[in-house]
Amino acid sequence: MGVIQYTDINQELDALQKAIDNLSIEESFQYITETYKDAVVFSTSFSYEDQAILHMLRSLPVKVFTLDTGRLFKQTYSTWDATLQQYKVPIAAYYPNEEALQKFISQNGPNSFYDSVDNRKQCCYLRKVEPLKRALHGNKIWITGLRAEHSPDRENLSKVEWDESNQIFKYHPLLHKTTEEVINYIKQNHVPYNPLHDKGFVSIGCEPCTRAIREGEDFRAGRWWWEDASKKECGLHIHK
Ligand code: ADX
Ligand code: SF4
Repeated sequence: MGVIQYTDINQELDALQKAIDNLSIEESFQYITETYKDAVVFSTSFSYEDQAILHMLRSLPVKVFTLDTGRLFKQTYSTWDATLQQYKVPIAAYYPNEEALQKFISQNGPNSFYDSVDNRKQCCYLRKVEPLKRALHGNKIWITGLRAEHSPDRENLSKVEWDESNQIFKYHPLLHKTTEEVINYIKQNHVPYNPLHDKGFVSIGCEPCTRAIREGEDFRAGRWWWEDASKKECGLHIHK
């Protein structure tokens, strides 16, 4: 396939959207790995969504990575292990910058995220956002497990978008899938999953900042539950 040179990001975004619009998810993965050879990355937090995606692209040339914040649940680490055993695909682990984290923890203590939104955002920046930038650097397209059902902000996203802050295309293949569809896929294909999902955890992040949700609560009510709803993003995904 010849490589088309675009002069403008919007033009390329438009072409990408049109190209995958009527494809199945598996076909779209085939298309993007052929189009953006060696420049496709997938971020996994080992959630239901990410596990379903990993199963679909397990044989394709996609660089899989995870951001190990150092504060994940033990069940998330076990799911990571189970995934490696089942799929045998390399999963690159990215870590916070040691010096910056050391300075922050020395000044503020290990749990300062409960004290202020600023501290919480700084912790998320050091443990997730900055390592993410390193993981994405040099690539053209980033696959994520974002779903519209998770928050009103995410309802307005497009399946393919341009991430200005990271200078990369983002593709959210499961954006419009329902929780039920994702769970059915996981079960039918015997995909290992985080056992916390069976205990009321829907959206799972770091252990000190995630709790299970109660029936009727918002999907992201369990993330940074002590903050008001408008602040519940960590900076990995900036929605304009
Ligand atoms: S977050 O913005 O609240 O942290 P969320 O947990 O909803 O994100 O996950 C959405 C997507 O972001 C996941 O499907 C995954 O692609 C990516 N993601 C979130 N956390 C991580 C992580 N620790 N490592 C790698 N990717 C992650
Ligand atoms: Fe720090 Fe909590 Fe953000 Fe994890 S979710 S990086 S522990 S503030």
